[in-house]
Amino acid sequence: MRFGHFDDDAREYVITTPRTPYPWINYLGTEDFFSLISHTAGGYCFFRDARFRRLIRFRYNNVPIDAGGRYFYIRDGEEVWTPSWMPVKAELDRFECRHGLGTTRITGERNGVVAEQLVLVPLGESAEVHRLTLANTGEVPKRLSVFSFVEFCLWNAWDDQTNFQRNLSTGQVEIEGGAIYHVTEYRERRNHFAVFGVNAPIAGFDTDRESFVGLYNGLHEPEVVLAGAALGSVASGWAPIGSHHLEVELGPGESRSFVFVLGYVENPIDAKWKAPGVVNKERARALLARFDSSARVDDAVAELRGYWEGLLGTYVLSSPDERLDRMVNTWNPYQCMVTFNMSRSASYFESGIGRGMGFRDSNQDLLGFVHLVPDRARQRILDIAATQFTDGSAYHQYQPLTKRGNHDVGSGFNDDPLWLIEGTAAYVKETGDTAILAEDVPFDNDPADTATLFEHLKRSFHFTLENLGPHGLPLIGRADWNDCLNLNCFSETSDEPYQTTANREGRTAESVFIAGLFVHAAPDFADLAELVGEMDEAAAARRHAQAMTDAVLEHAWDGEWFLRAYDFFGNKVGSRDCDEGKILIEPQGFCIMAGIGVDDGRAVKALDSVKAHLDTDFGIVLNQPAYSTYHVELGEISSYPPGYKENAGIFCHNNPWVMIAETVVGRGGRAFDYYRKIAPAYLEEISEIHRMEPYVYSQMIAGRDAARHGEAKNSWLTGTAAWNWVAIAHHMLGVRPELGGLRVAPCISSEIPGFTITRRCRGSVYRIRVDNACELGEPRLVVDGREIAGTLVPWAPPGTTVEIACRT
Ligand code: GLC
Ligand code: GLC
Repeated sequence: MRFGHFDDDAREYVITTPRTPYPWINYLGTEDFFSLISHTAGGYCFFRDARFRRLIRFRYNNVPIDAGGRYFYIRDGEEVWTPSWMPVKAELDRFECRHGLGTTRITGERNGVVAEQLVLVPLGESAEVHRLTLANTGEVPKRLSVFSFVEFCLWNAWDDQTNFQRNLSTGQVEIEGGAIYHVTEYRERRNHFAVFGVNAPIAGFDTDRESFVGLYNGLHEPEVVLAGAALGSVASGWAPIGSHHLEVELGPGESRSFVFVLGYVENPIDAKWKAPGVVNKERARALLARFDSSARVDDAVAELRGYWEGLLGTYVLSSPDERLDRMVNTWNPYQCMVTFNMSRSASYFESGIGRGMGFRDSNQDLLGFVHLVPDRARQRILDIAATQFTDGSAYHQYQPLTKRGNHDVGSGFNDDPLWLIEGTAAYVKETGDTAILAEDVPFDNDPADTATLFEHLKRSFHFTLENLGPHGLPLIGRADWNDCLNLNCFSETSDEPYQTTANREGRTAESVFIAGLFVHAAPDFADLAELVGEMDEAAAARRHAQAMTDAVLEHAWDGEWFLRAYDFFGNKVGSRDCDEGKILIEPQGFCIMAGIGVDDGRAVKALDSVKAHLDTDFGIVLNQPAYSTYHVELGEISSYPPGYKENAGIFCHNNPWVMIAETVVGRGGRAFDYYRKIAPAYLEEISEIHRMEPYVYSQMIAGRDAARHGEAKNSWLTGTAAWNWVAIAHHMLGVRPELGGLRVAPCISSEIPGFTITRRCRGSVYRIRVDNACELGEPRLVVDGREIAGTLVPWAPPGTTVEIACRT
């Protein structure tokens, strides 16, 4: 069942009922200020950091689920309704929410009044702009009372949920005309505040939640709205809000727009005050002035559209499959930009409090956005590398505001360092900017202890080599890519975190996944070494990769698939000898992506085992059989009920590894079948089962052992976005930058007989026409009319348009 439809020209998903199977959200903002907004106007916004600079309150895990947002109550006679349906839930004659590229447009209609709430974060602004347009479509004049509503919480969001003995006494506001200022804690150490203003005269305001809502009322029945008149309440402690009361008269056919701005403002420390106790509001006034008319909102929308069209013009596909086109041209890259901005910090499943930027996550996310924003990817790489330690290991996470490593989580995830090689290599292939390798980058953010970025990569590579176990395979540490495979944890105490507890310190537990990752990263590392003239290092790296490949083939081949690991005791994990968890997905994908077993048939065998044991209608599950009981020697993976998360869930992030592996063995049809099982646009028709947004990937879909097989959770912030981009754009459609040129080697289903791709890269445009299906085999390329040998199109001088015809 569908709950809306795609509008491909507008690049929007159009939701046509408020009763979606879960709140379906969008992200607004491009640089410093971001908003999460659901189709019913729920969510919140923040400046840079969702924990320390969150403007408005959202109640996670609440009843109802989508609690808190920016609402406009409309009082029409005695009736009260909200165009976003929530929170009043009065039935609407029509509802529509258009989530687009950085804009959300919610329209509600009731009893002859159409109200449209257009929301965006304009380029370069630290503010959410809402344009509310009210139209009288009836025959009689309307007198409406409109009440805006946001609930402020611009202080530490963790404190906000825990330290009530303090925070219920700190709330402060100032009011000036139609502008409401939230200045809690400004009197002490803050030099920032929030403002909520409107570009029209107001009939009244409220700033105290209890006065506006009523102590025993919910947001669906605020007392002030029910009574029809603002109280002019001034918050003092307790819970400050911003609410404007507007009286609007509309003749038949008439419409009017109002622009509301919810902004974040920072003052220089020495210019905090206008007068003793009076906040300096100059910057806030300037912000409100920039959006004092509807026309200015139109301009901001047009500018934003231009920004996105510019980005998305980097890779343009035209194929016979409209669902494929909308994934590749719009929604997959859009999600990749969101993961660039958010990492794993703020979504409807991530509280914005707990997690900073992941070392491994950020490097993988980069694979999905490096072609869109290469300059920002460059900075990201340098920031990530600066959280590395001198021995090559790394903080598992770092904080976005300070860019410093997170001590609470610390280090010890032994795959982390290698991802820096993958991220950096992707950047250099995209841009050709080898100068980045010579950049001076600190260790652990210590300016006194620096080395070139290439030296950082070298330490990453050697960290693996210096941490090998009894079989010559990499030691796993606390966990590898699978955060939940904790082979040194041995936790029997319920309150211990799996990720930071190591009850046994041993050098025995080994990861076959890291071995695959190492062999995958090694050729890139060697190529980069050659670029900086370290020929011996390059040659050694290639030898080490061969030795690791040999170790995998000797110690990690189980007969029909690759083993997953050796545990603390040296027992096999992911073997036919195990009772449960006989086969796990990760090493099958990564070892074959790295080329291991491709020559001798083992790769095909392993992939056939994946198909036989792990494939389902809704994607490939992580392991089989699921762990039915808690295994202390395996850790968190066995803590989940069978079918969920890392215990036999369809953990979408690793499915594209298998897709890419299928292209490595030349089976594009099977790769594309796997792709269609999890790509959201193909799941639109089963939204009642899938439940999450049909325009973005989710981290997890319940596996076949789960009662709710096919149900997704944790949409938006997942490495799934980047890796599926790599799988479809680079490997199935087959267009990917390499150091020496643009590789054009499609390997996709015969159901996609022909397609064209326009790819901008390194200042040139490559126009690729693929004429017939490329399931397997080397295509022939004709470049600007001349056939070339092989599939690598040499880089053209900047400013060139290169025409490429590709035939099998
Ligand atoms: C709070 C603190 C307590 C402190 C008191 C006065 O009640 O919990 O420790 O003594 O405030 O500051
Ligand atoms: C989560 C984490 C990621 C990890 C994955 C598998 O998505 O963000 O770092 O690789 O889970 O455990």
